[in-house]
Amino acid sequence: MNEDILFSPFTLKDFKLKNRIGVAPMTRMSSIKDSIPRQDVFDFLISRAQKNAALVYTEAIVTDYECSQGYPGQARILKEKQIEAWKPVVESIRKEGAVSIMQIFHCGRMAWPEINPAGRVIAPSPVAPSQDNPLTNSPYPIPEKIDLLEIEQVIEGFIDTARGAVAAGFDGVEVHGAHGYLISQFLSSYSNKRTDAYGGSIENRYHFAHEVIQAVRGVVPDDRLLTFRISNWGVADMEVSLFESREEYEKIIQMLSKEPIDAISVSTYKYADMAFGSDMNMAQITRGVTSLPIMICGGIHDRASAEDAMKDADIVLSAKSILLNPDWVEDVKAGKSLPLHKSEDANIAYTDTPLP
Ligand SMILES: Cc1cc2nc3c(=O)[nH]c(=O)nc-3n(C[C@H](O)[C@H](O)[C@H](O)COP(=O)(O)O)c2cc1C
Repeated sequence: MNEDILFSPFTLKDFKLKNRIGVAPMTRMSSIKDSIPRQDVFDFLISRAQKNAALVYTEAIVTDYECSQGYPGQARILKEKQIEAWKPVVESIRKEGAVSIMQIFHCGRMAWPEINPAGRVIAPSPVAPSQDNPLTNSPYPIPEKIDLLEIEQVIEGFIDTARGAVAAGFDGVEVHGAHGYLISQFLSSYSNKRTDAYGGSIENRYHFAHEVIQAVRGVVPDDRLLTFRISNWGVADMEVSLFESREEYEKIIQMLSKEPIDAISVSTYKYADMAFGSDMNMAQITRGVTSLPIMICGGIHDRASAEDAMKDADIVLSAKSILLNPDWVEDVKAGKSLPLHKSEDANIAYTDTPLP
């Protein structure tokens, strides 16, 4: 492999990335007032663009004021004031020559009713996640089965939020279909027990993702990016394989490949882990069935791991390493010895201590 591939440009649709390294989406829970993040959280995103990340994802933005929110202090982009707050952030990222993408999502059964105006939890089926809510140390409530009218309303929330991201000037939008949140809940037979057009066969379970992607693309112009994030794990179902088999995952990637999206972002615990009992990792399996650009994330912490992960992907994303080390991109370039962080190391992200 070309030694400098990590630091070579990559063309993502009409956007030229200056290298193959991006900031993964990271929720910061700082939007206590008006669903607008704290200034130091904005500054963090800008600083990573200044420090040579080619691509900057925002934290996951919740899509409505009803029941999409899973964590306190999550941001929204539905009101003029919220859109205005993001505009200078997008501008600054662009000025640094980086591409900005806003991630949007609905928590579904991972919502926390007390912090949602509607005080309800909705999901494909009345099945709660297997683990407790880490913030309350109590079980998640059993969700209400989302009805057909609510499905339409939830999709409206995705549309309005994507519109907000476009109005703020973002280069793209990411539909968060990973980590056991609403879209992922529909995809997985583990959480989707429906017998209507949204459940049962893989095609039916995929139907909701399809509708969300189509609806969001309808308001994200062709000259902007639309990406989709996927994972085989959920934050409150850590040990569960959300897809029943490699074949099922491959089928979903094939269906995604027919959508008007510009890249698939594959999220793993550790990019190199073999998946579905095979001798291939998630990126390799994904590569085998799609020609869309692939982003890979999970445990990429130094030059060796980044180069290794790039063998089967086009872009590498970092969360913890780039969160904790402002010079991470340059340190990777220099081939410095860098730590592989544990989840707890990132807890500072949820405090109001500004990051370095
Ligand atoms: C503080 C923090 C917040 C996160 N928030 C999100 C999020 O909002 N959306 C998302 O898709 N992933 C989120 N993740 C997961 C990361 O994007 C990434 O997939 C994961 O941390 C593995 O990458 P890493 O080994 O480079 O940290 C978060 C991770 C951390 C550490």
